[in-house]
Amino acid sequence: MRRGVLAAAFVVASASGVLAQGAPDASFTDAQREGLRLFSQSCGVCHTVVQQRTRQYGPVLSRETLGGDEELIREYISTGTPRMPGFRYYFEPAQINSIVQYIKTIPPQAAPAGAR
Ligand code: HEC
Repeated sequence: MRRGVLAAAFVVASASGVLAQGAPDASFTDAQREGLRLFSQSCGVCHTVVQQRTRQYGPVLSRETLGGDEELIREYISTGTPRMPGFRYYFEPAQINSIVQYIKTIPPQAAPAGAR
């Protein structure tokens, strides 16, 4: 019983951690919302600053990433790079598309201090 309560508290805590990374905008489409969820799970670890003291591993992404070329962004996500895993066996094409739709909502920003 006690264990169950602790587990529930943990789930609530980690769920709010995900939301803190970027609450979905009210204007988001379903695909963009889905993209945000998948992005938080699979991409945020490298593409957002997880903690103040750790350096971000991958570049900041925005709607201007790769010149805003959706086809190229899909290609990167599917194939990966020497430093980034490819996701073509992990996600359905529709899921990759949702992630691209989400990336297209991120405004370009100045790189945070310490990022490459
Ligand atoms: C293990 C860390 C890691 C994960 C997980 C990861 N990436 Fe990356 N990503 C990188 C790195 C590092 C680069 C920079 C390219 C390089 O150096 O090889 C990159 C590059 C990119 C680029 C090209 C950016 C540019 O400006 O050239 C896109 C788009 C991208 N990632 C999207 C994603 C998406 C979407 C996900 C989740 C499905 C994801 N990445 C997951 C590390 C990661």
